Amino acid sequence: MSAAKIPLAGVIGHPIAHSKSPRLHGHWLRKLGLAGHYVPMDVAPQDFEEVLRALPKAGYVGVNVTVPHKEAALRIADDVTDRAALIGAANTLTFTADGRIHADNTDGYGFIANLQQSAPEWDPASGPAAVLGAGGAARAVLSSLLDAGVPEIYLSNRTRPRAEALRADFGNKVKVVDWVQAGNMLEDAATVVNTTSLGMMGHPELRVPLDGLQKGALVTDLVYNPLQTRLLREAEDMGCVTVDGLGMLIHQAVPGFERWFGQRPEVAADIRAILLR
Ligand code: ATR
Repeated sequence: MSAAKIPLAGVIGHPIAHSKSPRLHGHWLRKLGLAGHYVPMDVAPQDFEEVLRALPKAGYVGVNVTVPHKEAALRIADDVTDRAALIGAANTLTFTADGRIHADNTDGYGFIANLQQSAPEWDPASGPAAVLGAGGAARAVLSSLLDAGVPEIYLSNRTRPRAEALRADFGNKVKVVDWVQAGNMLEDAATVVNTTSLGMMGHPELRVPLDGLQKGALVTDLVYNPLQTRLLREAEDMGCVTVDGLGMLIHQAVPGFERWFGQRPEVAADIRAILLR
């Protein structure tokens, strides 16, 4: 590659029109004064591998992958980080100079980095965590919470066998709680996380009874549209520390940007407003 070649990166999904990643990376490129482009790509599942393999020759240094390609990306990659393997999905691919595809999953990193920045007083080790939901997002949350030192995780999901499957993968610190009893597990939780799609625009609200929530617990929702879910509103009214899901989306993008464009972007307050426009 000639020295003057401008590095390209992007995001592959299907659909992709609503992705905020191009705006996010575009903002950082401009702010840091770096040469580079970040391109949204709508690619159907049957074309994913072919497109992915063609990108390095077209000047791409890496891509984010999103729904529905995260599992396929992991399968296709030549090198996989431990955290991506444990989560079973990749969201950040880097094309190496020797022609390999390196896969990482930065969702768990983004989840923790957001909590650390938004609630600096949060101490993951101070008590158990309660996690609602057992889909792909929950896997990233569980793995990062355990890494961050939470002593125990109560996990509840409408479809109990999915929660049992996570317990089998993540070990005995994870205790499965029946969905109808999910309210009970909040009672001694220091950290509460909604990873379900409940509360998202166009979806029903999450209706877990919150009466047992400890004042001072940290409550966070991965949902970011709307920013203020019923869970966060009620938790805030009860005196909890609340963190919305937009920051996770921003922070998960940092490692990829740094790898592809060579500088670590700062997550500053102005980016939230830009993404919400
Ligand atoms: P993601 O990768 O975003 O986690 P997912 O794998 O489809 O997406 O998981 C969605 C999560 O939201 C699951 O925990 C799902 O529960 P089930 O495993 O029982 O499907 C949860 N969810 C979605 N709609 C729900 C509803 N109406 N009530 C309870 N949980 C729901």
